[in-house]
Amino acid sequence: MSADIKKAAELLRNGDVVGIPTETVYGLAGSIASKAGIQKIFEIKERPFFDPLIVHVANIEQAKAYTTNWNTICDVLAENFWPGPLTMVLKKSYEVDDLITAGLDSVGVRMPNHAMTLELIEELGNPVAAPSANKFKKTSPTSFEHVKESFPDTMVLDGGACEVGIESTVIGVFDDKVSIYRPGMISKGQIEKTLEKNNIVANVEVVESPVAPGQLKHHYMPKVPVILVKDQAADLSQIDSKIIENSATLYLGFNSAMAARKLYQDLRELDKDHSCIIIKLNEEQLASDEWQGIINRIEKAASFFI
Ligand code: TXA
Ligand code: MG
Repeated sequence: MSADIKKAAELLRNGDVVGIPTETVYGLAGSIASKAGIQKIFEIKERPFFDPLIVHVANIEQAKAYTTNWNTICDVLAENFWPGPLTMVLKKSYEVDDLITAGLDSVGVRMPNHAMTLELIEELGNPVAAPSANKFKKTSPTSFEHVKESFPDTMVLDGGACEVGIESTVIGVFDDKVSIYRPGMISKGQIEKTLEKNNIVANVEVVESPVAPGQLKHHYMPKVPVILVKDQAADLSQIDSKIIENSATLYLGFNSAMAARKLYQDLRELDKDHSCIIIKLNEEQLASDEWQGIINRIEKAASFFI
């Protein structure tokens, strides 16, 4: 156990917050046993209290302990995708503070795939609640340095660059219905195939999130406008020349895993010295199951589509 992890656990016990690495993006964690810690997350992130936090667990037992409707679907999805970028929203147990769930009777639980953070949760002895470690509505952080830029006075565990690069897939699991509230790199197709292989008949659907915030129209936004080009024949000359004169084009490539891994880093880089960021998506990408998480984040970052 590293001294840093011990120190981080001590801070969390004392009602402070700590930046944590995960495979998706960095989180800003507070102990679920400390109301002061949870409050501090909302304060320093400038996040409204109506946006619920995800509870990060180190094992399946903890996830079961803080929820009340864990079923066979959850067993199969946890076995196949945990630790990993899948958050399951389930009915919460009474131990989960209302501040964490924004007063909802459900809670999002996820086991992140990062050894340092799993060790931290073990050392602390209970889960941590954590949103992404960015100021509200801004681009999520995928490195230690990104978190330090926004929160210079907060302790951050340096776990290197995030492997996945965009936030987890968030699903609700109630009875035999799986509802995708936020797409991510675990796709609808992967969830369906996994359930099918395990002989589970379930209805998997993409739905509007029951809570608006994570699905706010504008989220993950750089400072300069992002222009999403969906129509290959689009005429860029229709855009105001002041906006377009010093534009940067972000090339996504053809591999969705690679594209997700570098998306936020690239947006941050190009945001520094360009007048706008142009991102093109072709028809194949727009129709592909694998790309839906990436498309969702770009749409939320975009000021306009053409
Ligand atoms: O990959 C991730 O999910 C990252 C890392 C740090 O784990 N976390 C993350 O948290 O993206 P955050 O707070 O930025 O986004 C969590 C979103 C909320 O905005 C909301 O849309 C959804 O998860 N969520 C959480 N609890 C929910 C609930 N009880 N019902 C519906 N949606 C919920
Ligand atoms: Mg976030």
